[in-house]
Amino acid sequence: MGERASALEGLPLLEDLGDVAGKRVLVRTDFNTPLRDGPDGLEVADDFRIRAALPTIEWLTDHGATVVCCSHVGRPKGAPDPSFAMAPVAARLRELAPGVEVLENLRFDPRETANDSTLTAELISGFDAYVNDAFGVSHRRHASVMGPPQTLPSAAGRLVQREVETLGGLLSDPVRPFVAIVGGAKVADKLGVIHALSKVADTIIVGGGMAFTFLAALGHEVGGSLLDSSRLDECRELLEGPATILLPVDVVALSPDGSFGPGQTAGEVGVFDQDLPAGWIGLDVGSRSAAIFADAIATAGTVLWNGPMGAFEDERFASGTAAVGKAVAASQGRSVIGGGDSCRAIEELGLADEVDFMSTGGGASLEFLEFGDLPALEALRQAPNAPGRN
Ligand code: 3PG
Ligand code: MG
Repeated sequence: MGERASALEGLPLLEDLGDVAGKRVLVRTDFNTPLRDGPDGLEVADDFRIRAALPTIEWLTDHGATVVCCSHVGRPKGAPDPSFAMAPVAARLRELAPGVEVLENLRFDPRETANDSTLTAELISGFDAYVNDAFGVSHRRHASVMGPPQTLPSAAGRLVQREVETLGGLLSDPVRPFVAIVGGAKVADKLGVIHALSKVADTIIVGGGMAFTFLAALGHEVGGSLLDSSRLDECRELLEGPATILLPVDVVALSPDGSFGPGQTAGEVGVFDQDLPAGWIGLDVGSRSAAIFADAIATAGTVLWNGPMGAFEDERFASGTAAVGKAVAASQGRSVIGGGDSCRAIEELGLADEVDFMSTGGGASLEFLEFGDLPALEALRQAPNAPGRN
């Protein structure tokens, strides 16, 4: 423990930019926010990621800099697409940070995702410094996060700094016991992070669709539940340790003729132990599992939660996720939440203020936990003004 080099090491921070008064600073933000129809066209449905960038923006403007932000929204196909225009974000940003501009969606240009240096050159033209405050996209080798630090004095913004401190702290120095809760549908998406967590966490709670591949690895009948049979050996190996893995001991399942999703009611709902009848689909953890999970969470010194316990968008299968969310919020230990679904679940429960840290990154937080670093952070460490370089 504590052997891993801190990911903050060598990372230039805002202070490393020197005097920014009168300078023009390009800030890469992650303003990839959900949009919805409003009275005047599209509007921002959740401004969490915009508010999360304010400490950096305000630090820069308070120190006399002119700030221009740039971001992507959604996944447009390298060409302008009105459904992903930056205008709704720009409107919200004007309310939160008057006078701060934001450029049009970076992904309207195919050179962004291609990490093309000609786009970098155009982006940084006229700027004196660059700040990456887009933690959520720092696992992508895209032009706007990889390119600018090769030339401009650069820094990690406050949001990136806090993410790295918090998630890095889980890996290097967690208060024990460290209980990680991993859920979500696809086991393949999470095995990497479970492997990494298995080395640092004391207990890993596995729920959601991915739990059925673990149950099948132990020889259980999972009915019509999600199952990735190419991953059974890996699950078996993880079940051997070093961390203790807790699986559901009971499952809420839907009959084979049912359908699930928001507002669905078709089909019969039953509770079973770890074996399901043929065709039944496990969609939530049962109340006995939730109680066992909540007990483990209650004694934790550190809790990390990524991924729901079931199909919580269907209220018949929302109890497990709600129980875990409540337990995480009530925990006396340090609580960290990563990933859009878990953050949404906590917000819907009205418990967002009870947790210590909500990551702005989904994929980025998982990759950071798996590898202890991200490509765009490494790019910042190569900046001309990075500590230890000259
Ligand atoms: C996210 O929402 O996870 C980030 O903004 C990255 O978006 P991407 O997955 O489309 O690269
Ligand atoms: Mg708490």
